[in-house]
Amino acid sequence: MERRPLHRALGLFVSLALVAAFAAGCSSEWLFPQTPQTTVHPDTDAGRIIQDVYAPITWIMVVIFVAVEGVLLYTVLRFRRRPGDAREAEENPEQIHGNTALEIGWTLIPVVIVVALAFPTLQALWALADTPSGEDPYVVKVTGKQWWWEFEYPDYPGERTLVTANELHLPAGELVRLDLTSDNVIHSFWVPKLSGKRDLVPGRVQSIWFTTPEEPGVYDGQCAELCGASHALMRFKVFVDAPEDFERWAKRQAGPAVAEASVQDPGPAAMLAGGCVSCHKIDFPGSPFQQRQGPTLTHVGSRETIAGAVLENNPENMERWIRHAPEVKPGSTMPSHDWMSDEQIQAIVAYLQELE
Ligand code: CUA
Repeated sequence: MERRPLHRALGLFVSLALVAAFAAGCSSEWLFPQTPQTTVHPDTDAGRIIQDVYAPITWIMVVIFVAVEGVLLYTVLRFRRRPGDAREAEENPEQIHGNTALEIGWTLIPVVIVVALAFPTLQALWALADTPSGEDPYVVKVTGKQWWWEFEYPDYPGERTLVTANELHLPAGELVRLDLTSDNVIHSFWVPKLSGKRDLVPGRVQSIWFTTPEEPGVYDGQCAELCGASHALMRFKVFVDAPEDFERWAKRQAGPAVAEASVQDPGPAAMLAGGCVSCHKIDFPGSPFQQRQGPTLTHVGSRETIAGAVLENNPENMERWIRHAPEVKPGSTMPSHDWMSDEQIQAIVAYLQELE
């Protein structure tokens, strides 16, 4: 009768510990269905290297947690003072000074565990530090901007530079290396299902590698380093394309927006009036739009998203973005254009949507 509350408490504790164990392990599809930005269901070799360290460490920690908290809870409940205890209040309990065996034990066991965990951790760190040799990776240069991403493809053959923004396309089943840098503050490149995080540091180039999945797919990424007012709105997408789709995409992106255009056309004329020329690039013969401070707009109509993958790319959102960019993204270097006429803004929107 007297022990029942103890049993109940232990039962509750074990149930909670099991829930914690499942939550930490996250290997149950039923409890934890795949989410777009899960790290525990990686889709690449690099992601699996990390997960193969993370999973055993998590389970070891769960075992230690349950053991330590279990003993603690048992002791607290089992040896608590009860009414009618024979011992008088003023009587001190028996005094114990040290226990050599216990002290050596609880020093050595953690040392052994930490050292044991260091080996797979270091192995993983070394494996991820350098691109695996033997195969030439497909290289993409990634530059972190405030608050968007520029992707440049130096490996794409031809004279034209293939540059795009916020939507990274990669061929499926291929070893890729991303060379990361920043021309402003520190950002961090993170696509949880593809690999770990890597900082983009001004004045340095740091790389990240992984083999893209064989299956085409779309992956959500985001900046993982506080980088200013719109850090949380610095997102991007990674499209893993079937090789032939990737080739088709790259060929189109490397080409000019349109074969022929005139700055007298309503779209380009309105953009010149709006000052877009001082930040953006639109590639067509004789184009005055040659700047790369802002995202290149040469094929902006082909993108699914705008504004750092924050808004779906459609005429309404594009109009909203052009009119009041800092309202969508606080601190945006893209200024408001609400001083422009409706006709001008609609001409720009119509023009940009055509640039596929
Ligand atoms: Cu870039 Cu946070």
